[in-house]
Amino acid sequence: MCGITGYIGDNKTTDILIDGLRRLEYRGYDSCGIAVVDAKNRLYLKRVSGRVDALDKLVAADPAKGAHSGVGHTRWATHGAPSEDNAHPHTDCSSEVVVVHNGIIENYLDLKDKLLAAGHKFKSETDTEVIPHLIEEKLKSLHVQEKAVRSDMLEPVFFEAFRRAVADLKGSFAIAVVWARCPGMVLAARLHSPLVIGLGKGENFIASDVSAFLKHTKRVVFMNDGEMAAVKKDGVDFYTFQGKKTAREAVTIQWDSTMAEKGGYKHFMLKEIHEQAEAVENTLRGRLLPLGGDILKAEMGLSAEAMKAFSSVQFIACGTAYHAALVGRCLFENFGIPAYADVASEFTDRAKLMAPNTLVMAISQSGETADTLFAVREAKASGAKVLSITNTVGSTLTRESDYVLYTHCGPEIGVASTKAFLGQLAAIYLLGGHFAAVRGRLPGGDARRYAEDLLKIPRLIEETLEKETEIAKVADGFAASEHFLFISRHINYPIALEGALKIKEISYVHAEGYAAGEMKHGPIAIIYKGMPLLAVAPSGRTLELMAGNIEEAKARGAEVIAIVDQASQKTVKASRYIVLPSTDELFTPMLTVIPLQIFAYYVALAKKCDIDKPRNLAKSVTVR
Ligand code: G6P
Repeated sequence: MCGITGYIGDNKTTDILIDGLRRLEYRGYDSCGIAVVDAKNRLYLKRVSGRVDALDKLVAADPAKGAHSGVGHTRWATHGAPSEDNAHPHTDCSSEVVVVHNGIIENYLDLKDKLLAAGHKFKSETDTEVIPHLIEEKLKSLHVQEKAVRSDMLEPVFFEAFRRAVADLKGSFAIAVVWARCPGMVLAARLHSPLVIGLGKGENFIASDVSAFLKHTKRVVFMNDGEMAAVKKDGVDFYTFQGKKTAREAVTIQWDSTMAEKGGYKHFMLKEIHEQAEAVENTLRGRLLPLGGDILKAEMGLSAEAMKAFSSVQFIACGTAYHAALVGRCLFENFGIPAYADVASEFTDRAKLMAPNTLVMAISQSGETADTLFAVREAKASGAKVLSITNTVGSTLTRESDYVLYTHCGPEIGVASTKAFLGQLAAIYLLGGHFAAVRGRLPGGDARRYAEDLLKIPRLIEETLEKETEIAKVADGFAASEHFLFISRHINYPIALEGALKIKEISYVHAEGYAAGEMKHGPIAIIYKGMPLLAVAPSGRTLELMAGNIEEAKARGAEVIAIVDQASQKTVKASRYIVLPSTDELFTPMLTVIPLQIFAYYVALAKKCDIDKPRNLAKSVTVR
């Protein structure tokens, strides 16, 4: 949550900071701001309650003069309501130290009490504001009086004051700070919140994620927890919180900056829905054949012997990734491998109760979701091995896992996850196939058929996407509805949950996803005449039961929109059908979710909702 940018160099600082914020808006967008040091070493600070566009206008109307360093922030409120006063950057009493922060300072009330007692005046309700005041206090303790410090001592003094302030902070934080008296250096620190440094030529960047500066540089250093960076125009030095210098290697990011642009689509979400065939193809490429071979060993050090030895699989994830986890559970169980799935925030005591030699599979697009990371740490503390499935190179999750399988979806910008979900499913099917093969659950021809069927999925996704106009029409017909039900069974039950989540996220209507068998135990009571009920009913072992559940819903007045294939359409009696290409029952979730995503998109479009930036949400949830 919250996006941070920082810049130092000779290009137009305010433009670079604002452009970076625009690309990070998916992380939070209730307020934003920038601060730069101008040519006369004065602090220039602009903040708005609202979006980056509003900030841009404000800055254009009163531009900064000659700035070469600064920081920016787009916020998802935790402490203090979204308002201009609570927007970052925050300053100290002298308005010389200015800070942007992502995370939560857990001991801020204690620190604030002490700072108030020392005479500091606070202007916001945020936890963040303690940081600039604390740095100011540390500067005082280093005897920094008005203009009294020798100019060659400004950088070491600033660094030391920052280091001491950071040492007092508890919680999670990514921080970037400038001091107006020392404009040649921006300082940064990271603990449990992502922060990455972009290395340019004669300019350097700081951001919560690489997409903020990809168009300027692809050479990056992902900061470690407990690390600080002194970022200057011509170089960046890294230190521990104790002030010991560390050597860091830069890596080159493969993503292209145009991947994070809309490319002619009205919304990122729609563009990303259309990128799903590619996301699956890229995630499967070169990793499938032969199943059970050495492919996973070569890529992530996971040997066939290890795959055989795990007693069970425990999935943990949040949000949409949790729905991928539920599909994973069904898939692994289908292969006779004991599997469990929990939302990371409810994993709690489970970590200690896992069977010996359980493999934990953590799924996270961002690799930064706080609850998922916390659950992973608990699992590791209990002795489990962790395999993570993520889309984000260098993310915290990758560094805390024993094995990492990357989905290759490219950047996902829409807050409502679509292509990342398909990438996660592809990774799960890939792992499921390898695990099943080494454990003798996909003998001979079965393994080959499994791989071949899976490799056909990208083409079937393309075919499914051709139904967009038809699905849009159905969605239009229900755009005024305030309640939606989604039902299915077995491996498509998670898809019913995902369909309901998608429409809730972007249309703000009431929607529930249910295991169809549970309808009679309560939810059927809420059905009224004309209520839209989306039933996911492809061919397979649960079809007859689904057909019965659909009849029961219709008898109570539901308008049933059935997601079927040609064969299952004959069994299901619905008011409307969306007919998908056929595939093996096991793989249907990769197709059935697509009409539900498109349906949610067009309901939201008809309701004129802000599809890529839904209210109250943020893409990366880095607080618990
Ligand atoms: C947020 C996003 C969801 C996402 C979830 C988990 O709630 O809005 O789209 O599914 O976080 O995110 P992760 O990055 O861990 O997959």
